[in-house]
Amino acid sequence: MRFFWLAAIDAVTKRHAPATERNREAILEVLRNCLPDEGTVLEISAGTGQHAVFFAPRLGARYWLPTDIDEISLASIASWREEAAPVNLLPPQPLDVLDLVWPVEAAELPAPISALVNINMVHIAPWSCCEALFDGAARILKPGAPLLLYGPFRREGQHTAASNAAFDDQLRSQDPRWGVRDLEAVINVAVDHGFACREVIEMPAHNLSVIFVGL
Ligand SMILES: C[S@@+](CC[C@H](N)C(=O)[O-])C[C@H]1O[C@@H](n2cnc3c(N)ncnc32)[C@H](O)[C@@H]1O
Repeated sequence: MRFFWLAAIDAVTKRHAPATERNREAILEVLRNCLPDEGTVLEISAGTGQHAVFFAPRLGARYWLPTDIDEISLASIASWREEAAPVNLLPPQPLDVLDLVWPVEAAELPAPISALVNINMVHIAPWSCCEALFDGAARILKPGAPLLLYGPFRREGQHTAASNAAFDDQLRSQDPRWGVRDLEAVINVAVDHGFACREVIEMPAHNLSVIFVGL
């Protein structure tokens, strides 16, 4: 009876986002090429936690710290973590990018933060979240440390696929503050915060990985 009850709780808390299973291998490849060999990778807006439990055990010596603003997501990440139990996956922490100080800035971590990863947030949040992301990254990351952004972007004012244009319409009808961002506008924000765009990588399903480094 007790086991049944635990399973029911798990089914409620552990959320699934099918896209994570489609994009995780390609993102992992990018991470392997751009992350420093050690330190703690800070994941902003970790969502369900499926990326965290997939990446952490495959990225060996680094620690992985998943965070999110949303309590339901934090519970989901904790459930996935409890089930998979990778030794280098740290407990999830609440983090709203709009906060002027992020809790991780005062947290005791097993290794200093050496990289920041943000997958699929800047188009599903107000533009101020993109600016706040780079504000926080500038406070936390040392020069040379990478920041990986992943998601759909417009390039030179154009969508890169009809499916992205349709997705953009859908996002804006849900919340007019959301929408697929112009890559050039994101790069301008990054530059204003002391980052350089090191690489733009075309990914499956018309997404991009954009790697910034602190100067
Ligand atoms: C589309 S989900 C992406 C989740 C995950 N990275 C993935 O790719 O499956 C967007 C995430 O951004 C988070 N988010 C939205 N606003 C945020 C904020 N102000 N600070 C931190 N996270 C935020 C949401 O809670 C949600 O988990």
